[in-house]
Amino acid sequence: MRVHVADHPLVTHKLTVLRDRRTPSPTFRALTEELVTLLAYEATRGVRVESIEIETPVSTTTGLAISDPKPLVVPILRAGLGMLEGMVKLLPSAEVGFLGMVRNEKTFEPSVYAERLPDDLSNRQCFVLDPMLATGGSLLAAIEFLFQRGAVDVTAVCLLASPEGLEAVEEATAGREVTIVLGALDERLNEMGYIVPGLGDAGDRLYGTVG
Ligand code: PRP
Ligand code: URA
Repeated sequence: MRVHVADHPLVTHKLTVLRDRRTPSPTFRALTEELVTLLAYEATRGVRVESIEIETPVSTTTGLAISDPKPLVVPILRAGLGMLEGMVKLLPSAEVGFLGMVRNEKTFEPSVYAERLPDDLSNRQCFVLDPMLATGGSLLAAIEFLFQRGAVDVTAVCLLASPEGLEAVEEATAGREVTIVLGALDERLNEMGYIVPGLGDAGDRLYGTVG
């Protein structure tokens, strides 16, 4: 598994505002989108491309175009939806599939409540969006889902991860083509399964509390 932790003052600055409990939802949503666009630059480093010939107004030249089949971007609902616009801004030709997951806050077990993805992902590059990699259960379930449908490689973009969750994903995906791009690697998980220092519940901060 390849892990890339962003090392850029703008990323840290924007994350600092996100972490602040006083930051209201509209600002939180705008910053999430901006952060994902910054992280997407690194996440798409391995995007499959092919050479094409074009004519400039001056001469012919060889350039690159994104290969078919086009990459698939998969936001994990609910919180991952807040990352979608930031990602497709950089990768507008990507297709988008949806996976709805919620983790049980007592057992931390994730469950899938919605799915709208192509049945066959053979030969597809997939980009999973989820702001929080806490125990790693949700991301791991999403990655397994995509590999079972034939995906060749999966890159996950997360704003924050815990060392425990990252290790769990690494262990469970050994030998597969998985890349994780992070805004920051935090200190630890607490007994409630929350990332410390973290930013709280990403879905609630983006969209409000559900009962
Ligand atoms: C949050 C988050 C991840 C998951 C991370 O979603 O967006 O999907 O928890 O936790 P894990 O690594 O321990 O699995 P949540 O289940 O709260 O749903 P939501 O996005 O609808 O708020
Ligand atoms: N889900 C969140 O939204 N935040 C955490 O810190 C852990 C799980």
